Amino acid sequence: MNEELRREILGDPDFSTILEDFERGLEHASSVEEIEELRRAFVSRKGRITELLKRLPTLEPGERRRVGRLGNLLKDYVEKTVARRLSDVREMELRRTLVEEWVDITLPGDPVPRGSLHLITRVIEEIEDIFVGMGYQVVEGPEVELDYYNFEALNTPDWHPSKSLQDTFYLISPYGDYPDLLLRTHTSPVQIRVMESTRPPLYVIAPGKAYRHDVPDATHSIMMHQVEGLAVDEDISFSDLKGTLEYFTRRMFGEEREVRFRPHFFPFTEPSAEVDVSCIMCRGKGCRLCKGSGWLEIMGAGMVDPNVFRNVGYDPEEVTGFAFGMGVERIAMLKYGIPDIRLFYENDVRFLAQF
Ligand code: PHE
Repeated sequence: MNEELRREILGDPDFSTILEDFERGLEHASSVEEIEELRRAFVSRKGRITELLKRLPTLEPGERRRVGRLGNLLKDYVEKTVARRLSDVREMELRRTLVEEWVDITLPGDPVPRGSLHLITRVIEEIEDIFVGMGYQVVEGPEVELDYYNFEALNTPDWHPSKSLQDTFYLISPYGDYPDLLLRTHTSPVQIRVMESTRPPLYVIAPGKAYRHDVPDATHSIMMHQVEGLAVDEDISFSDLKGTLEYFTRRMFGEEREVRFRPHFFPFTEPSAEVDVSCIMCRGKGCRLCKGSGWLEIMGAGMVDPNVFRNVGYDPEEVTGFAFGMGVERIAMLKYGIPDIRLFYENDVRFLAQF
């Protein structure tokens, strides 16, 4: 407000109190609300300047012009001052909030715990990948099996020790209707199920759980996982089996591994072998892991017995094939240096999270 106008306003008793009251009020108004309040008190419809201007019609023309002019100039002054002050205060408040409520959006967020696949699942997937790369298909079969698929069709005679009540979990129906139901003791019954429903050529692997009535210790569990393999075609020979399993073993454990086939017996393969890999810890020299032998057993295998082919209606004169079965826990323990099979099932996240 210029000096001349101020002097003029201060010369008028009504206007000078209004101006003084306004300027004093402004000194104390520090928040947006207080300033708005002050504006309302002076220039709203009920404000003091407005009230004063309402009296204009009752005044002498000369006085009317003077009061009208001064009133409007004062109103103008109040409005501009209030507006300027409001924007100052708003800006100050913004700065204060920016400082007080400062958030560093570049800080990392609160971590959300992330799950991961169980090591057994991972190893099964590793095995699957290797065989799928060779053209195999992945299939599955039931864990609750018929005696026929688990034993009989696999050429396993009734007197075989694995059939004993001590080794196999039998599911006895309360009605006695299903005396031959059991928890499969290996994944080999899937061989029979696949051959029953498909014609050769056939290249499949079948991962899954198997159950045995073992006493749990560092290397035994009543439930473990196996991956079964079956290849049936014309002219499949033992050298195909050797080549396939050597390739698999080196992909799984490293190119420098040796693979050994030891003569063995399985009812459903003939000839049969147990397959060993050169010890991954001592590389064959002999150590605690391989119990001094330099070799670690990783699976059973062999050429499909002609009796098995006959049981599924394949002609053993027309087709030959090989089969193998490996223990997933055993492979995982060897590959990742896990000393006790029970670690897989205890659900201790400190163990599981390492893989
Ligand atoms: N089923 C056998 C076992 O559980 C492994 C095996 C599978 C052997 C296929 C030969 C052929 O020990």
